[in-house]
Amino acid sequence: MTLPADSRTSGEDERRVLRRDPNPHLFRPITIGSVTVKNRIMLSPMCQYSATDGVMNDWHFAHLAARAVGGVGIVCTEAVHTEPRARITKYCLGLWNDVQRDAMKRVVDFIAAQGAVPAIQFGHAGRKASVGRPWEGSHPVSPAEGGWEVIGASGRPYAKGWPVPIEMNRSMIEKSLAELATAVRRAREVGFRIIDIHGAHGYLIHQFLSPLSNFRQDEYGGSFDNRIRFLLQSLDAVRSEWPRENPLFLRISVTDWVEGGWSLEDSIALCRILKVRGDVDLIDCSSGGNDPRQQIPIHPGYQVPLAAAVKAATGMRTSTAGLIHSADMAESIIANAQADIVVMGRTLMADPYWPLRAAVALKAATVKWPVQYERSNIF
Ligand SMILES: Cc1cc2nc3c(=O)[nH]c(=O)nc-3n(C[C@H](O)[C@H](O)[C@H](O)COP(=O)(O)O)c2cc1C
Repeated sequence: MTLPADSRTSGEDERRVLRRDPNPHLFRPITIGSVTVKNRIMLSPMCQYSATDGVMNDWHFAHLAARAVGGVGIVCTEAVHTEPRARITKYCLGLWNDVQRDAMKRVVDFIAAQGAVPAIQFGHAGRKASVGRPWEGSHPVSPAEGGWEVIGASGRPYAKGWPVPIEMNRSMIEKSLAELATAVRRAREVGFRIIDIHGAHGYLIHQFLSPLSNFRQDEYGGSFDNRIRFLLQSLDAVRSEWPRENPLFLRISVTDWVEGGWSLEDSIALCRILKVRGDVDLIDCSSGGNDPRQQIPIHPGYQVPLAAAVKAATGMRTSTAGLIHSADMAESIIANAQADIVVMGRTLMADPYWPLRAAVALKAATVKWPVQYERSNIF
């Protein structure tokens, strides 16, 4: 069969482009403020539930160091908490004292020495704090069982059987913002170069944002402008200790996936405000986690359209996470400008060398393997 002349031409052009491009989009550097990242791959924050008293140990070193050796551009910590009761489990990381700060130094220095950018995620679990580890069932742990009283945007529990949070009053809000600023100062002292603020997955900031979890009667509740107030004040707290040229990412749940909840339209309205304020450099687009009624259509790349929509509507840089597992898929997300960075969790947990293998698959000529591992590049 003979193909029509025009389709044959376009097929040939396409092959020529594919053959000729030794510089896939996934491996093109990106400069954000004072930081240049060597590629578009970020290790997604993933709790390891392995700390004692919030202090990083050998497990955290191995987990983060391996991904830096494996070629990840931005190596982000799991959620690090700003006070003891902000932790999801009592095995989560913290940065409310100098012991915790000093234990991070070795990890951060090693990540940077591999040519990766060390990033830290800050979180406060709010009403979803004080639960067991996943391999123990993730159930709420009461104060009598070694847990603690939880605080939240409002006095309503996450779900039936979960603890009723103490609604944060003005002085608790101010204390929480001050603790965030102090933790950011410590992160700067350690040498982290990017901060990712956890405003997603039903944790404290998200609890303020969403009408499904915010029932306050004061200036932090009710209208959209009131519900975003705590987030904006959190960003102010971060920026009080984090110079403008240092990149700041904000992770949000772009939608609650529940009728009447926080929506894509709300996220776009929020990001338009952030764009004008100019204090956030990238919207790390996730979703869900705030209401057990959520209906999430999970499939590879299921959150890509959310990042693409936020980027198209606001012009802000975005990243996307969620079952991204092949080099071609990651490449197409960046090449088609659906997001600026791909954030990968479970794929990188299963294979720390995924970026090196993706570089082989995409024939990226510029990607160097660590010298110690050069002889293993037999692919
Ligand atoms: C074990 C585990 C721990 C996680 N911990 C965090 C966390 O600390 N902060 C966060 O924002 N997301 C957390 N997540 C969500 C991931 O960062 C990521 O957004 C999600 O798993 C989807 O991406 P993936 O399909 O590439 O894993 C966690 C996910 C897993 C599997």
